[in-house]
Amino acid sequence: MDKSELVSWSSTFSVGIKQIDEQHKELFNITNDLFNHCVGDSESEKAYFKKVIQGAVNYIKVHFATEERIMLKTKFSGYTDHKREHDMFVLTVVEQVRSFHLGHKFDLTHFTRFLKDWVLTHIAISDKQYFEYFKRIATRRADGKLVITMRDEQHGFTAGDQVS
Ligand SMILES: [Fe+2]
Ligand SMILES: [Fe+2]
Repeated sequence: MDKSELVSWSSTFSVGIKQIDEQHKELFNITNDLFNHCVGDSESEKAYFKKVIQGAVNYIKVHFATEERIMLKTKFSGYTDHKREHDMFVLTVVEQVRSFHLGHKFDLTHFTRFLKDWVLTHIAISDKQYFEYFKRIATRRADGKLVITMRDEQHGFTAGDQVS
């Protein structure tokens, strides 16, 4: 099957922290894979959705947990609102998956577009807001990329730290 992209990664989506960008790229991959299985045949679309959706939901939860953990370590002021956005999204997806398993009407194209719209908007607007906080504890590697190591997380941010 020819692969086409519903969403294409570009630097405009970068939040500046390597492992978060990598998780976001994987969310793009998940979205594009769903898109490539919108073939117009309801039976095969449902079979694909059934096969992959739990893994996708799990990945999304791991990603949200990563961001939320670092938000707490960096004392990100928007934590509560951001977590609420994550929680509402998970609730909506879980509800759609539940409805699917109950055999209610399901449209893979509709689901994929919903996922795409949420992911793009959330990354471009909400996720970008934590960069100034995340870089407080990040380490700059030799290649110039900012990463957050286990050690950075353990150390966290304290009031006396320099913000640069
Ligand atoms: Fe994110
Ligand atoms: Fe987020």
